[in-house]
Amino acid sequence: MGTRGQTQVCVVEAGPAGLLLAHLLHREGVGVVVLEAKSRAYLETSPHRIRAGVMEWGTKEILVQAGLGEGLLKNGHEHQGIYLAHGGELHRIDFPSLAEGWRIWVYGQQYQVRDMIARFLEEGGEILFEREVVGLSDLETAPKVRFRTPDGEEGELEAEFVVGADGSHSRTRGFIPGLVLKEKNYPFAWLGILAETSPAADELIYASHPRGFALFSMRSKTLARNYLQVSPEENLEAWSEDRIWEELNVRLGGVARVQPGPLLEKSLTPHRAFVAEPMQHGRLFLVGDAAHVVPPTGAKGMNLAVADAVALFQALWAFYRKGEEEKLRRHTETCREHVWQGEFFSYWMTNLLHTQPDPFLEGLRQAELKQALASEALKRFLAENYTGRRTTGRWVGLWT
Ligand code: PHB
Repeated sequence: MGTRGQTQVCVVEAGPAGLLLAHLLHREGVGVVVLEAKSRAYLETSPHRIRAGVMEWGTKEILVQAGLGEGLLKNGHEHQGIYLAHGGELHRIDFPSLAEGWRIWVYGQQYQVRDMIARFLEEGGEILFEREVVGLSDLETAPKVRFRTPDGEEGELEAEFVVGADGSHSRTRGFIPGLVLKEKNYPFAWLGILAETSPAADELIYASHPRGFALFSMRSKTLARNYLQVSPEENLEAWSEDRIWEELNVRLGGVARVQPGPLLEKSLTPHRAFVAEPMQHGRLFLVGDAAHVVPPTGAKGMNLAVADAVALFQALWAFYRKGEEEKLRRHTETCREHVWQGEFFSYWMTNLLHTQPDPFLEGLRQAELKQALASEALKRFLAENYTGRRTTGRWVGLWT
């Protein structure tokens, strides 16, 4: 395409929400162009894009039903539970028995994005890489999207709808007049590593230890993904590889051991949350991290993005198929339900498992954790939310 073009739906950026929506629309014959600021190689290989790898049962179902589940079914893993480690004991949360058969899948988000790009392009979808969106106009009538290439060339796309799927630093969000960002900064961060070694256990271990929380996750049988709770002001340089492995083992409290292995990545992730409302203006609609972020403890980020994408697909499909505008009008209201449910659960799980700097809150947390581990009802609550009955679960099968 040259520097001018036209389409029905312009999706801004090729993350999980944008790609799923683009793929679903394209399959139904709606014209879609995805504009992506980065190169394809960057999206597929940059270590900075290593994100959580937990898919709710509904997310896995939706991706499979959409024809985007080949890689995840082949190379991902089904998990039937997680472990909580506390006081030198391991407590298993058994998903199928607590959440009526629901389970989770573990497959890295960046692998899923790579698979979705490949499938969308194979099926004739259009992604324009290295086109950074720099402006939107006429959003109430006939939207125009201005973009720029790395060598400074500018172009414009006319579209019937614009979808802001451009992540937490979203630029499209700035084009919603009266938007309110409801925000929460948590006093925690995660020091994360990706290492060539076997994971601590066959399922994820969420460990609450007086020195701080630690998470033991994985990407495969030979790739471990582990995290340590640290202060948001922490200096990464202060953490040598030896210190990281030692601290991970201390926080495991003897319930398992991690074997040190070569580090492929080391990063610091501050915990924050926000919900942007409304998620729409005129013919612009937000999905995924552009509209809301969660702290990583409940692994909800990609799952909420998938729920938003299915909701907006349904609304656009009703518009193109039947000329109905009602679902589009209600996009914010429709998404609010799963978004706030995800925020609530992420808040609960984060605060339950992280050592609180405030001594009073830490006392409350200890009491709550003790109860949670002894209570079938609280374990059920955890299992139902972790596997996603109220988030992506709402959307499974509703659109096929
Ligand atoms: C991860 O594997 O990176 C991961 C897993 C679970 C979480 C967060 C991150 O809650």
